[in-house]
Amino acid sequence: MKNVVILISGCGSNMQAIVNAQIPNARIAAVLSNSETAAGLVWAAERGIATDSLSHKSFESRLAFDQAMMAKIDAYQPDLVVLAGFMRILSPEFCAHYEGRLMNIHPSILPAFTGLHTHQRALDAGCRVAGCTIHFVTAELDCGPIIAQGVVPILDSDTADDIAARVLTVEHQLFPKAVSDFVAGRLNIQGNRVLNTDTQAQPSALPA
Ligand code: GRF
Repeated sequence: MKNVVILISGCGSNMQAIVNAQIPNARIAAVLSNSETAAGLVWAAERGIATDSLSHKSFESRLAFDQAMMAKIDAYQPDLVVLAGFMRILSPEFCAHYEGRLMNIHPSILPAFTGLHTHQRALDAGCRVAGCTIHFVTAELDCGPIIAQGVVPILDSDTADDIAARVLTVEHQLFPKAVSDFVAGRLNIQGNRVLNTDTQAQPSALPA
C-alpha cells in the first residue's frame, strides 16, 4: 500500500476525483491545506480521511512555512505528495525533499502559460485549444517532467470561466489516472520525460 498525501487550497474537486477513484494500493493518508477554510477539508473529513491545515500567514518566511508543512506531511510517511490546487509557490528545499514523488496539476498545456490566469491568457493569445498538465514538481515554477496532458477546444463564444469548466472535467479524468500510474510503478522519469509502461496511456483526445 502506498501512502498518498494531498494538498489543497480550495474546494478540492481534483482531490475528490482522486479519492473517489478508489485507486488500488493507494491509501489517501491525509488531506492538508494552507487554509483552514478550504471546503475540501470538510469533504475529506466526512469520509474519514485525516485532515489538517497550517496557515502560511503565521510564518515569517516561505521556507519556515514549507518546513512546518513538510513536518506535517512527513508524519504520514508519504510515498507520493499530490498538489491538487495547492496555491503556494514552493521553496527549492520543499521541491528537493519530495523529488520524484511530488505531483502537480497546472491548468495549461505546459510549457505554455505557466503561472496564473492561464485560460484568459490562452484566450487573449488566440489559442484554439486549452488544457491541463500533470507533472512532477521541480524547483522552477510549473516545470518538471510531464506525466500527462489533456486538451479541449476553445470555442468562439468562450469566456475564461467556460474554458476552466471544460478543462476541469479533463483534470478529473487525468489526475486519478496519473496517481494510479505512480502507485502502480508505471512512471519512469528519464531526464525531462516521463515514460509510462501503460501503453494505453495516451493524451486525452479533444472531446466531440
Ligand atoms: C485546477 O484548475 C487546477 O488545475 C489549478 O487549480 C484548480 C484547482 O481546482 N491548479 P480544485 O480545487 O481541484 O477544484
